[in-house]
Amino acid sequence: MSFTAPIQLPGLTLDPHWYRRSLFYEVMVRSFVDSNGDGVGDLAGLISRLDYLQWLGVDALWIPPFFTSPLKDGGYDVTDYRSILPEFGTLEEFKELVTKAHERNLRLIIDLPLNHTSDQHDWFQQSRKHPDGAYGDFYVWSDTDEKYPHVRIIFTDTEDSNWAFDSVRRQFYFHRFFSHQPDLNFDNPKVHDSILEIVRYWLDLGVDGFRLDAVPYLYESEEGNGEGEPPTHEFVRKLRTMVDRDYPGRILIAEANQWPREVAAFFGSEPEPECHMAFDFPVMPRIFYSLRSQRAGELVRVLSETTDIPAAAGWAVFLRNHDELTLEMVSEEYRQAMYGWYAYDPRMRANVGIRRRLAPLLDNSRAEMELAHALLFALPGSPFLYYGDEIGMGDNIWLPDRDSTRTPMQWTPDRNAGFSAADPGKLFLPVVQSLVFNYTQTNVESHLAQSNSLLHWMRNVIHVRKSHPVFGLGTLRAVSTSHESVLAFTREYTGSGTSLGDQPETLLCVFSFSHNPIAVRIEDPALTSLHLYDIFGGSVFPSFDEEGAVTLTLGAQNFYWLHCG
Ligand code: BGC
Ligand code: MG
Repeated sequence: MSFTAPIQLPGLTLDPHWYRRSLFYEVMVRSFVDSNGDGVGDLAGLISRLDYLQWLGVDALWIPPFFTSPLKDGGYDVTDYRSILPEFGTLEEFKELVTKAHERNLRLIIDLPLNHTSDQHDWFQQSRKHPDGAYGDFYVWSDTDEKYPHVRIIFTDTEDSNWAFDSVRRQFYFHRFFSHQPDLNFDNPKVHDSILEIVRYWLDLGVDGFRLDAVPYLYESEEGNGEGEPPTHEFVRKLRTMVDRDYPGRILIAEANQWPREVAAFFGSEPEPECHMAFDFPVMPRIFYSLRSQRAGELVRVLSETTDIPAAAGWAVFLRNHDELTLEMVSEEYRQAMYGWYAYDPRMRANVGIRRRLAPLLDNSRAEMELAHALLFALPGSPFLYYGDEIGMGDNIWLPDRDSTRTPMQWTPDRNAGFSAADPGKLFLPVVQSLVFNYTQTNVESHLAQSNSLLHWMRNVIHVRKSHPVFGLGTLRAVSTSHESVLAFTREYTGSGTSLGDQPETLLCVFSFSHNPIAVRIEDPALTSLHLYDIFGGSVFPSFDEEGAVTLTLGAQNFYWLHCG
C-alpha cells in the first residue's frame, strides 16, 4: 500500500487555535503496527503509517500512554513517566515520530495519567516503606477506609472500595480506579512539582499537548464527591499558566466524564482559562440513544446546553475510544434502554458501559455509520476518531475488559491482518476473525480497492469538512422541525478576517434518525428566503419561503449538509 499525499513543508501551521480546526485520531501504539515481528505494535510501526493517516486527512494524533508500565491497565498504570516501554521502542524513535509527524503537519497529543501511578512506581514503593521519607506523602494514606464517603466507585466490575490496605505501611491508600493504581496526593506541593516537571520534559521533546487523564479526580474532600473540587481546578489553572507562558500553542484536553456544566468548568473562564479542549461526554451517549429511539429530542436538549463556552475553547467530540462506551452520564431509564439495544449479551458490558466497537454497535449498518459520522463531523468542536473505525473494524467480546476493542489494526487480508509478521500465537491480542468482521474482508487494503468503501467515504467527508471552517469555528443553533426523528441546526461562522480560507458561512445540517423515509418542515425566521445548496454535489434544494419555512424529504437514516445563501 502506498499513500501519495504530499509532505507539506515546512511543517506545522502557526494558527494558535489549530486544535479547533483539526481532526484527531486516537491510535494505541500497541495495536497499530508491529515493525519488528515481536507481536506487539511499536513506535517504528506507527511512524511507517503516518502517510496513511495524512492521506485520510488526520491533523493530530492522540496516543494513549506508552511509558514504562506493567500494563495492567493498558499503560494507564505508569512506573516511569520519562521512559518508554521497551517493547514500544526508544526515546530516539519517539523523537523521530515527533519530527516525521510535524513534517506532515500532524500534531501529537500524548496522554498524561496524573491522578495515579502504578503501585510498582518507585514513588509508591518508597512511600509504603518510608512514611517519613521524601515520598511518604506522595499518596493518600489513612488509618481507616472510611474517609471520603461520597466518592463513587468507577470500576464497579472489579472494585468494591476506593481504599486498599497496604501490608507494608499498615495503612490504607486511596485509589479511584484499580487497587493497583494508588492516587497521588495533590495536597503535597512536591507532587505538583513532579507533575509539572514531567509535563515540561515531554513538551521539550516537542509534543503538542496532553490529554489530562481522569482530571476531575485530583482532589477529594470529606464533604464533596471528589469530582472537580475547587483545588483540582486551581491545579489545572496553574498547569495552563505554565503552558501558556513557556509553550504557547500547546494544548490541554480534559478527560472529564461528567455532566455538561461540570465538564464545561474545565475550560475555565477568561482571564483564567483551564483546558483548551474537553471531551464531550454528555453528547456522545445521546447520539447512540437517538439512533435507536429514532428521536432527536435528547440531542437537541444537550446541544442547546453545551454551547456556551469561552471563545478559544473547543469540544472534543467522539463516538468511541479505547474505553467502554460509558453510560454514567445518562438517566437510569435511558441507560437500561441503551443496554437493551446495544449490550443484550452481558458479556458486552463493562463497569457502567458497553465494551464494543462502533461497527458492531451499529450492526455493521453502513447507513448508521455514515449518519453517526456525519453528525459527529457537524457538531461544534473537533472530531476524534478511534483507530479502525474508519474501516468499520469489529471487536472481540471474549477478550477480557476493554481489550475487546483494542485488537490489532487490520491492514491487509494476509497473516495477522498485516499488523505483524510474528507467529499468530504470539500476538499481544488476536486479530478479529468473527464471521461478520473477519480481517480477510475488513482491512485497509480491501477498502482501498473498493471505491465506495466506508474508508473512501470517510476520507471524502473529512476533506469536505476541512474546506468549510464553519464546522470547527462556527456557532450552533438548534432549529425547530415538525418531525421528532429529525435534528436540525445551523452552524454559523462570520469569519475572523485573519487567515486564508477563513470564509464566513452559514450551513443548515439536517439528520433523520427515522428508520423510514420522511418529510419534514423546518422553520426558522432567521433563515427566511434563503437558498439551500448541498455542499457535496452543489445541487440546488428548495428555498426557505417568506415565512422562514422549508419542507425537505430524507431517506431512512439520512442527512444533509446544506449551504445557506
Ligand atoms: C482511561 C482508562 C483508564 C483509567 C484509569 C481513564 O480515564 O481512559 O483507560 O483505565 O483512566 O487510569
Ligand atoms: Mg513490535
